[in-house]
Amino acid sequence: MEVIILPSADAACFLAARIVSDTVRRTPNSVLGFATGKTQERVYDYLVEIQKKESIDYHEVTSFNLDEYIGLAVSDANSYRFYMQKHLFERINIREENTFLPDGNAVDIDSECQDYETRIASFGGIDLQLLGIGENGHLAFNEPFSSLLSRTRAKALTQQTLAQNRKNFPDPEKMPTRAITVGVGTILDTKRCILIATGESKARILAEAIEGPLCAKVTASALQLHPKCTVITDEAAASKLAQHEYHRWTFTHEPEWKKYHLMLRKEFVDIA
Ligand code: GLP
Repeated sequence: MEVIILPSADAACFLAARIVSDTVRRTPNSVLGFATGKTQERVYDYLVEIQKKESIDYHEVTSFNLDEYIGLAVSDANSYRFYMQKHLFERINIREENTFLPDGNAVDIDSECQDYETRIASFGGIDLQLLGIGENGHLAFNEPFSSLLSRTRAKALTQQTLAQNRKNFPDPEKMPTRAITVGVGTILDTKRCILIATGESKARILAEAIEGPLCAKVTASALQLHPKCTVITDEAAASKLAQHEYHRWTFTHEPEWKKYHLMLRKEFVDIA
């Protein structure tokens, strides 16, 4: 696992968007894994900006999202399909038929979950997966104590997640309490993944996920097993990491990051 610490949330989201854009430019038929949440909104804004500026072509891209609420109409402003259409899909030239999310209204949820896994595999797996982290350490909706080998399935949301996401629902009573989520094992199978964490509210859990023991209580700690995982964070979310200096050094010295370091210095004046 590599950890990149940047001075601001803007810089962190820009770097994630830059990596996705470069992946699509290099491999136009990439299979991308998208996430939802407040953090990703800025990533998608940058993706759109870069796409317009550099005419990045998403026509051949396929995408899979991590999760979807059970029982919410796709037209509901809180469904993750609605979120993706609004924040990304309608703003770039990705073909809607190439964008997949679990169907939270499927009659048979179990077979929908199995089909989702089969569909991901039929595209050869996910080349690049974006991830966020919940304040309880969840990845997608893999709530604490999810099996670290789990696959796509229905999951009950914890009280903490309900409280965290309820604020988006105009009628909090109507918030679904279950969701379909890809499993931790599904995420570990992705070829590369990028976890973006910003803001002080993520500091404690991020330190547990990165530097704590591997444990089902913090499902994001499973990323310690991923062969190519990059965590991109701002100073606030990184504030409880013990190996702060080492992570900073990585970004400025490792060959893979040099070009991104130079690029970010041009975009953001606060990068040394
Ligand atoms: C939801 C999603 C997660 C995401 C989390 C973080 O719970 N299911 O995939 O990581 O939100 O969201 P935010 O970026 O708003 O903190």
